Amino acid sequence: MKNITLYLILVLSIVALYGFAFAIAGNDEPDGKKIFVDNKCNMCHTIKSVGIESKKSDATDIVELEKDKNAEFWMKYLMKKEKLNGKDHKTAFKGKEEDLKKLVDWMMTLGNKK
Ligand code: HEC
Repeated sequence: MKNITLYLILVLSIVALYGFAFAIAGNDEPDGKKIFVDNKCNMCHTIKSVGIESKKSDATDIVELEKDKNAEFWMKYLMKKEKLNGKDHKTAFKGKEEDLKKLVDWMMTLGNKK
């Protein structure tokens, strides 16, 4: 009898965990995507893998960030404190640093969605 109870508890907790995981996965848009759109990055950039289309005809599709560069680099690049291939980024991020961090963390996952 004790074994059956334990078994039931185990099954129930697995079901509960699955439900929890789905609730998180089914959550709204990731923060990073929202920050990207809120900061009008989509004026110049398309990200097809997540359904962001720029109206600019020559917009580059951001497919994947260079893997040999870390989050710190991308944050600095987007604040124009660091150059990529010898060039500054077009615009400097004007929002909060914590939002920039979320944005960069999210952008660094784009390569996984190809
Ligand atoms: C006025 C146009 C413009 C805006 C607005 C803009 N970018 Fe860019 N961005 C560029 C250009 C031009 C480049 C360099 C060429 C390229 O790779 O597209 C670039 C490059 C990048 C790169 C490197 C691309 C790569 O594949 O290595 C990233 C990442 C990036 N931008 C992110 C952003 C984010 C995040 C925002 C919003 C905070 C933003 N950009 C807003 C024009 C813009």
